[in-house]
Amino acid sequence: MKNILVTGCAGFIGFHLSKLLLSQGYRVYGIDNLNDYYCKQLKSARIQILKRHSKFIFHNNDIIDLHKIQFNSRIDCVVNLAAQAGVRLPRKDFNKYLSSNIEGFLSVLDFCVDNSINKVLYASSSSVYGETNSIPFSEDEPINSPKSIYASSKIFNENIASIYSSEFNINLIGFRFFTVYGPWGRPDMAYYKFSEAILNNEPIYLNNKGQMSRDMTHVSDIVKGIFSGLQRLFDMKNGNKSFENLILNLGNDSPIQTIDLLEKLEKILEKKAKIIFAETSNEVLSTHADLKKPFKYLDYCPKVSVDDGLVDFISWLLKYRDTT
Ligand SMILES: NC(=O)c1ccc[n+]([C@@H]2O[C@H](COP(=O)([O-])OP(=O)(O)OC[C@H]3O[C@@H](n4cnc5c(N)ncnc54)[C@H](O)[C@@H]3O)[C@@H](O)[C@H]2O)c1
Repeated sequence: MKNILVTGCAGFIGFHLSKLLLSQGYRVYGIDNLNDYYCKQLKSARIQILKRHSKFIFHNNDIIDLHKIQFNSRIDCVVNLAAQAGVRLPRKDFNKYLSSNIEGFLSVLDFCVDNSINKVLYASSSSVYGETNSIPFSEDEPINSPKSIYASSKIFNENIASIYSSEFNINLIGFRFFTVYGPWGRPDMAYYKFSEAILNNEPIYLNNKGQMSRDMTHVSDIVKGIFSGLQRLFDMKNGNKSFENLILNLGNDSPIQTIDLLEKLEKILEKKAKIIFAETSNEVLSTHADLKKPFKYLDYCPKVSVDDGLVDFISWLLKYRDTT
């Protein structure tokens, strides 16, 4: 049986990935510091579900302390999803991007070198593209205009990965995720906040006249993409060849404008939103993934339309609100 270490397992994507890995017969060592960036109750509820599985072993730790943890089996592959997510932290909290995303990732890579683990998958982000003019966003475009510290930390991750791949013979795949959504999602994200606001009759402050667009990607497509990456690394035979260092978009190739997202949510919830058009923000105006490369390397092809995915999310949200 293969042993996979998933960091950030109490998080949105880490939870879904861990579930998928367990269902496929892998043993999952999950690590998470259960920080309070958003509701801890949601993270704990995810962990309780994972703990129902006998092959899930949870460590409540910071990835910076990874080397202090005793694992009772050899780890075959690491998936690093732990990070300070979101682009909007206030300046006083910028250090969280540095400690979790940069120091934390270095700690994970050093752990891999020290324990001869040569397969690593890690989370990057569509935010690395900044305000690029070439749409859809291709992995081959140079990236040098991040619009947030978060995006800079992800670019830095990709650079460190490249160094560890060539210096320490680690096979790495970095995934640039595009606005991941779905059941058990993150309450700080727009689709979740809008849904809550509609249900609670609260106003929704809409930046940039609702004209921003996002390539919203259902979490089931994302975790299938990560899983294909894992299988690719297990199937590789390096021989004398150089080590893998891939960066791949995982998106939906079907961006949706914020105003249209709101309309879809109103329709599903059968309720009108109270919209207040707000300030222009300096967020990236649109994201759109070019999927040629993930298709070439992983056969990645997203299956869930935004219409179906939002219905799936709302049906989970309504049940979850009843239990809390
Ligand atoms: N959800 C998206 O739309 C999206 C888009 C692009 C990139 N990403 C990236 O994907 C990854 C997963 O995102 P998510 O949406 O599941 O976020 P999330 O916040 O739900 O999950 C991250 C988890 O990591 C944990 N964590 C943070 N710092 C840690 C540390 N130092 N040590 C141990 N645990 C720590 C948190 O407690 C959390 O449970 C992140 O790296 C994020 O930057 C997500």
